[in-house]
Amino acid sequence: MDVFTYLEPDNYEMEEWSRPDEMGMFQGFWMHAQAELDSLRKARIADLCCGTGMSLLGMASHPNIASAVGVDIEERNIAFCRSRFQTYSKVSFVLADVLKWLATEKDYDLLTLSSAFHHIDHPRQQHFADLICGALKPGAKAIFAENIVAPFEKALTPGYMKSVTAFYDAVHDAAVQSRPNIPNRIKKLIKENVTLAERGEVEFKVCRPHFVKNMENAGMKLLYEDKCWPMGRTLPGNAGNFVFVFEKL
Ligand SMILES: C[S@@+](CC[C@H](N)C(=O)[O-])C[C@H]1O[C@@H](n2cnc3c(N)ncnc32)[C@H](O)[C@@H]1O
Repeated sequence: MDVFTYLEPDNYEMEEWSRPDEMGMFQGFWMHAQAELDSLRKARIADLCCGTGMSLLGMASHPNIASAVGVDIEERNIAFCRSRFQTYSKVSFVLADVLKWLATEKDYDLLTLSSAFHHIDHPRQQHFADLICGALKPGAKAIFAENIVAPFEKALTPGYMKSVTAFYDAVHDAAVQSRPNIPNRIKKLIKENVTLAERGEVEFKVCRPHFVKNMENAGMKLLYEDKCWPMGRTLPGNAGNFVFVFEKL
């Protein structure tokens, strides 16, 4: 599958809605985002790497939002979002590289990042963390939904590939267990994530120590984290899907 096809909004949606691990993470992400919005007033928020807008679906209607902007680099996703959210007057979308866009943004009350951090290549993840912190008001929060793979030393090494492959094996098994007749096309989309990670394209997975260190180095404090998948069992290296809430110091 070429990257152009893989990134097609319809394919992305087809894969996401078929993955119990991602659905578990969205539930957690939307719940924590809503809970954080409950204690804000006239909040100015941004959803970074908004994709097709799934991350915004569960929070865009919150009454405490004054404005929400979704940012993504893929034109097809921004067109999809503009159509999906056309009746939401407080929600707008920007087609931009999030790293360039963030460089001139500041004073946000809340930044949300669902499956966003691991779409920036490893060498630029610390810079991304710095920009996230720089765009927030002091004391404001950033909420992340992240696929966390088992700890690895260095990206794109055999240890990294092992962590990524083990994570997606568990993702694939969960999808097939919940839907034994799941179409091959969806199974292929799930497996494509590993191929892309191996090629060092699109997917740049993170482990907990690296991710938390990036955010702490940037000047953010981890307030809490919530494991969203898998429930009732532990994957090797405590891999899984998590929501993290950080506060700007
Ligand atoms: C896995 S999707 C997540 C979408 C959405 N937040 C969600 O949870 O469904 C990652 C998104 O990051 C976007 N992306 C990757 N690199 C980017 C960049 N440098 N600037 C902005 N968006 C980027 C991709 O286009 C893609 O839509």
